[in-house]
Amino acid sequence: MSDSHDRRGVSRKGFLVRAGVPSIAAAAGVGTAPPSEAAAAVDAGDPLQGAGPHPVRIALTVNGTRRELSIEPRVTLLDALRESLQLTGTKKGCGQGTCGACTVLVNGRRIDSCLTLAMMHQDDRITTIEGLANGDELHPMQAAFLEHDGFQCGYCTPGQIVSAVGLLAEKRSTDDKSVREYMSGNICRCGAYPNIVAAIQAAAGRT
Ligand code: FES
Ligand code: FES
Repeated sequence: MSDSHDRRGVSRKGFLVRAGVPSIAAAAGVGTAPPSEAAAAVDAGDPLQGAGPHPVRIALTVNGTRRELSIEPRVTLLDALRESLQLTGTKKGCGQGTCGACTVLVNGRRIDSCLTLAMMHQDDRITTIEGLANGDELHPMQAAFLEHDGFQCGYCTPGQIVSAVGLLAEKRSTDDKSVREYMSGNICRCGAYPNIVAAIQAAAGRT
């Protein structure tokens, strides 16, 4: 198999090796060269040079505070928030982008933090559930979820609330059908959907 390069001149072999994915590299027939050989495979001028597999330093702005981290390139944004920054309000459900429990805002847009690598968010603004309240004053969406009992066990609730904040920022319709559609990426295993919709509509009326 040839060691092709993409438009940026990134060596495919070098990327797989530095991404710390030996199983993928093996499956691709790249082989798992010892570190010295792997280093030798790195092309001069490769833009990914120094990007792992060892920890790399990145800076994120999380809930308004600049946070510097040293993390392995393979670490998801979700794991960086929970395990490196101890922001455990953001939950891990499926870990594969189907439940929405891990929803955070990145530069104001909602995303599943389990599906993106932390190192891809250098200098991005991250908002988690911990960043919504203003001191002791709940965010209107948090207050609305409380008033309308928009939860039962509460595991999905941080993701639901952050996603709902993102939804209102998108200036979309908030009729029942629209809210259900635009919140369809956030699963509630307790089935609190009617109350979640009511909470979102109540918050929409206040913001
Ligand atoms: Fe990210 Fe389920 S944990 S979508
Ligand atoms: Fe239990 Fe939603 S409140 S999963």
